[in-house]
Amino acid sequence: MTQVDPRDLSFDDWDELHFPRSDEQEFDQVVERAISRRGFLSGIVAFGSGAAVMGTGLLKGSTAMAAQSDRFAFTQLAAQTDGTVHVPEGYNWDVLVRWGDPLFSDAPEFSAETGHGVVGSDRVFGENTDGMELFNVGGHELLVVNSEYVNTKVNLPAAQEGKVQSADDVTLLQNLQGVSVMEVAEGENGWAVVVDSPFNRRIHHRTEMVLDGPAAGHDLLKTEADATGTQSLGTFNNCGSGRTPWGTYLTCEENFNGYFGTTAELELDETVAAGFKRYGVRTKVDEGRYNYHGFDARFDLSKNPNEPHRAGYLVEIDPADPNATPVKHTALGRFKHENAACAVAPDGRVVVYMGDDERGEFMYKWVSRDVYVPGGDTSTLLSEGQLFVAKFNDDMTGEWVALTPAATGMEAAEIAIFTRTAASAVGATTMDRPEWIAVNPTAIEAYCCLTNNKNRGVKPNAGGDDTSVNAVNPREANKYGQIVRWRPHGDNHAASTFDWDLYVMAGNPTVHDDARKGSANVNAGNLFNSPDGMQIDTTGLLWIQTDGKDNNEGDFAGMGNNQMLAGDPVTGEIRRFLTGPKGSEVTGLTWSSDKRTMFVGIQHPKAPFPDGEGALPRSSIVVVKRDDNAKVG
Ligand code: FEO
Ligand code: CA
Ligand code: CA
Ligand code: CA
Repeated sequence: MTQVDPRDLSFDDWDELHFPRSDEQEFDQVVERAISRRGFLSGIVAFGSGAAVMGTGLLKGSTAMAAQSDRFAFTQLAAQTDGTVHVPEGYNWDVLVRWGDPLFSDAPEFSAETGHGVVGSDRVFGENTDGMELFNVGGHELLVVNSEYVNTKVNLPAAQEGKVQSADDVTLLQNLQGVSVMEVAEGENGWAVVVDSPFNRRIHHRTEMVLDGPAAGHDLLKTEADATGTQSLGTFNNCGSGRTPWGTYLTCEENFNGYFGTTAELELDETVAAGFKRYGVRTKVDEGRYNYHGFDARFDLSKNPNEPHRAGYLVEIDPADPNATPVKHTALGRFKHENAACAVAPDGRVVVYMGDDERGEFMYKWVSRDVYVPGGDTSTLLSEGQLFVAKFNDDMTGEWVALTPAATGMEAAEIAIFTRTAASAVGATTMDRPEWIAVNPTAIEAYCCLTNNKNRGVKPNAGGDDTSVNAVNPREANKYGQIVRWRPHGDNHAASTFDWDLYVMAGNPTVHDDARKGSANVNAGNLFNSPDGMQIDTTGLLWIQTDGKDNNEGDFAGMGNNQMLAGDPVTGEIRRFLTGPKGSEVTGLTWSSDKRTMFVGIQHPKAPFPDGEGALPRSSIVVVKRDDNAKVG
């Protein structure tokens, strides 16, 4: 067996390798699981044949799955396995910006062999592009983009095997993550970053932030540098994105745990130790993934055990004001936030749907206390309100359970800091890794990508919660993933109950004839696995991006590289639209204000993308347009 270098793994895979969850199983649990599995599998075979998906829940009454949709303006692209981007005939693509490209004219020169040094590394476009949103501020097109993590072998090419060796190495890595705000403009030669625009800004691992909500000022958030527990530095592992109705950007702190470590044996109090375990904060004395703690004491748990309690939140950024201090909203919970999908309830309250992307963790919803009034005060909308967690019933109904002190036996601040524990206490449904959620602007419904879960029906989550197969997560050791859709009762996103169905179960009907073949809207022509990024455009078309296995063999034969597909919410038809270069994940999607350009993120490609063989690979945002310049969203 070849030894996998941890520095070659995605952050999720690295996390799983280093923090394997308990696999103790009582014999009777195993038996019970096997029985329930058989029960659900019979249902799933029906799912696979199309009967259950089409005959139950929300899809009832829609036309047959095989019906050709007239909503697609393109012919399906074939799967691809090469090192570049492909789009359908009639469309074109170009690179807008790559890791290391300047946002300011004093940025360091980029070398194709060695990248750039630490000086000015906070003046360039960051690494590992992920969630993004576009805002038009006074006629300026502002693209706000997450930089999720770094690849030390790529970003520190001079260092031995990508091993962090100095404080400068740490600073450089810290500068390449976080969020980039940049003005972009379309000229005669296409789209480009407006270098030195007054809106341009880099937010990284040391940028000043404030904390608000129930956890702000709590003892567990106080550190040597911040005795108030309200001022933190940096935002971490910025994965998916969201946008508020009032024009601010939401960045989501996902695998924040991976930045902390310890240089000495720890003696932790029980609460802190339990939290580290549930969230996968590493307590072993070693270098970990980035070894920040070896050179920056803030990340050394033996010196600052509360620092991890200041990460794992939803962070709000005002793109219109480069001097605005980002706010970490603790009221929306601490977990591995994937993205944030906002809706406004009929009475004006603000609803935010959020997933916690780890195997067997949960889906959440925030409902504000106050109502959103355009142009009015928005300061309480993400700090005063109620956080809920989802329960999916096997009868295809569900409920949002309020995480209150009465329901959880925890104080409000503890619910905000140890949200996973609170959700476990109310018996929330463990999910197959909730990735992006998208709210349909043309119907009162929302969708969540459940990307995959090799532990489904195999072992409990990090809190010991049961992960037996159930109707919404119906396949044991789920390799392919599914997309769940729900419609809130009363056409009100603030309602506490809903109906749900599975929009698609990914699978491979060319290899399997059991539940692994997927739902009826998956066929030899549109094969994919591991749905992750998702947006719904203004016409109601569902755009699905994948972060899965791209070896194109065995269970994944015929799927090719990671890709972006479009789905018709009504007919269920799904067509492949774009393919990424080998080794990359396609993640992050937004549109220009005139909807004639699509911005798509290509994360962690391998050479030759985008600069050719021999050059360092660089995560990039590409622009996609129609040749006739018609709208693309
Ligand atoms: Fe950063 Fe769950 O994707
Ligand atoms: Ca993701
Ligand atoms: Ca993923
Ligand atoms: Ca990723």
